[in-house]
Amino acid sequence: MTVPSKTKDFEIAIVGGGIAGLVLALALHNRGIPITVYERSAKFGEIGAGVSFTPNAVKAMKICYEGVYEGFERVCTRNMWSSKLQTYFDYVSSYEEGKVVDETIAFSTTTSLGQNAVHRAHFLDEMVKLVPPEKCIFNKHLINITQAPNGRQVMHFGDGTTAEADAIVGCDGIKSRVRATMYGADHPCVTPSFTNKIAYRGLVPMEKATEAIGAEFAQNAVMHLGKNGHILTFPVAHGKTMNIVAFHESDGNWEDTERLTKPGRREDALRDFAGWSDNVTKLLSMCEEELPIWAIFDTGANPVPSFVKGNVALMGDAAHATSPHHGAGAGFCVEDAAYLACLLQSPAVQTSEDLAAAFQAYNDARLDRGHWVVQSSRYLGKMYDWMSVEGNDMDKIATELRKRNAIIYDFDVEGGIAQSVAELEAKLGKSGKK
Ligand SMILES: Cc1cc2nc3c(=O)[nH]c(=O)nc-3n(C[C@H](O)[C@H](O)[C@H](O)COP(=O)(O)OP(=O)(O)OC[C@H]3O[C@@H](n4cnc5c(N)ncnc54)[C@H](O)[C@@H]3O)c2cc1C
Ligand SMILES: *[C@@H]1O[C@H](CO)[C@@H](O)[C@H](O)[C@H]1NC(C)=O
Ligand SMILES: *[C@@H]1O[C@H](CO)[C@@H](O)[C@H](O)[C@H]1NC(C)=O
Repeated sequence: MTVPSKTKDFEIAIVGGGIAGLVLALALHNRGIPITVYERSAKFGEIGAGVSFTPNAVKAMKICYEGVYEGFERVCTRNMWSSKLQTYFDYVSSYEEGKVVDETIAFSTTTSLGQNAVHRAHFLDEMVKLVPPEKCIFNKHLINITQAPNGRQVMHFGDGTTAEADAIVGCDGIKSRVRATMYGADHPCVTPSFTNKIAYRGLVPMEKATEAIGAEFAQNAVMHLGKNGHILTFPVAHGKTMNIVAFHESDGNWEDTERLTKPGRREDALRDFAGWSDNVTKLLSMCEEELPIWAIFDTGANPVPSFVKGNVALMGDAAHATSPHHGAGAGFCVEDAAYLACLLQSPAVQTSEDLAAAFQAYNDARLDRGHWVVQSSRYLGKMYDWMSVEGNDMDKIATELRKRNAIIYDFDVEGGIAQSVAELEAKLGKSGKK
């Protein structure tokens, strides 16, 4: 790996090393922008579950750093049938009151790349390999941020230590401390909101899944829709494993906002999906007996007013945590990183004031899109569970879905960034030629 030569005299601290933090770290480091990543945990880690990326996100990976894209390609899994390589999901209706449903495909969504999923831990491992270890400091739980007399940002950590940087990017997830330090602990945007959905998540061996429900629905991405719930499955780990997520409309509140998961059992899932198709019952029956229940929270009830305050910025879930129904949250992390990296890379950005202007440009470009996806994803959650005006009309669902998906997939990442950089350079009056 060649070490890029230093292009800036400032240093950026990245708080949090999830997908957002690591992709940003790689994008900045490979532009010669000095960084340090501060991660709360003792090492980088992701949960064992799948995450899929749409074409906009894959484009953004390439902009961030070719190595991110190459790492993704090494671990990504597409639909296994060659006839479905452009299919994003096949949608089936899996519930009919008082009837035994025979599942058939009602409609399909497509993208230029089809389904593109990775096992989270595998993808993160690919990123970790690319980040120089001396740039990452672990066991650093950010508590607060203050300003030094010279204007630099001072991070205070749980172990009593501090560290300084010229600017901070909070990549610390849905319960972001960086967000709390920007707005004060009592601001509504600090507390994420329950979307009233819970999810059961499982990984099962593909062989078993194929035997149980047949090759077509086991080996390719499928969305099973029904009343008050939906189940999505897609292959991960190069087709060795099937990723299952079963969403259900919750009948109560989620009491413990500190913990977003609680122990559950397979029987709970089977009860929530009683009366659904045979395939759905079989899918759930294959999951582990101890099945954690995930509460789906987002930042949708109280969106953060701005992703930026001075030389502190928010990115990824820290800025806009979305429910997973668009499958876009991680992709938006990568889009954010691409914007931020290209803006900071501009030769017009040299001083601490330039940094603040670059952060502001990032906010102006990203705020509406980030907030939109959170709301649209909430809508999909309702629509998939037949709780929206579309009801159980699969044609209407298809029309509405395609309209919303296009806003995500067809986004011109390169064009958007070029415009944002040009505006920043015009504002700084340096037109990049310093
Ligand atoms: C069920 C489910 C399914 C999903 N499916 C998809 C999908 O298919 N496609 C998709 O694009 N998105 C999906 N998403 C969304 C996606 O997972 C998230 O948007 C993405 O992982 C967020 O990454 P992040 O780096 O912003 O935050 P996180 O992954 O939460 O990372 C935050 C990091 O910061 C660290 N940290 C936290 N607080 C501190 C602190 N105070 N100090 C220091 N470090 C700290 C944490 O330890 C962690 O490493 C899904 C989400 C869910 C819940
Ligand atoms: C289960 O899925 C298969 C496709 O893999 C489909 O052909 C079959 O009709 C489904 N079974 C039921 C009972 O819906
Ligand atoms: C963070 O620092 C500010 C400024 O010193 C202070 O007012 C605030 O109380 C601190 N917050 C916490 C949670 O320590």
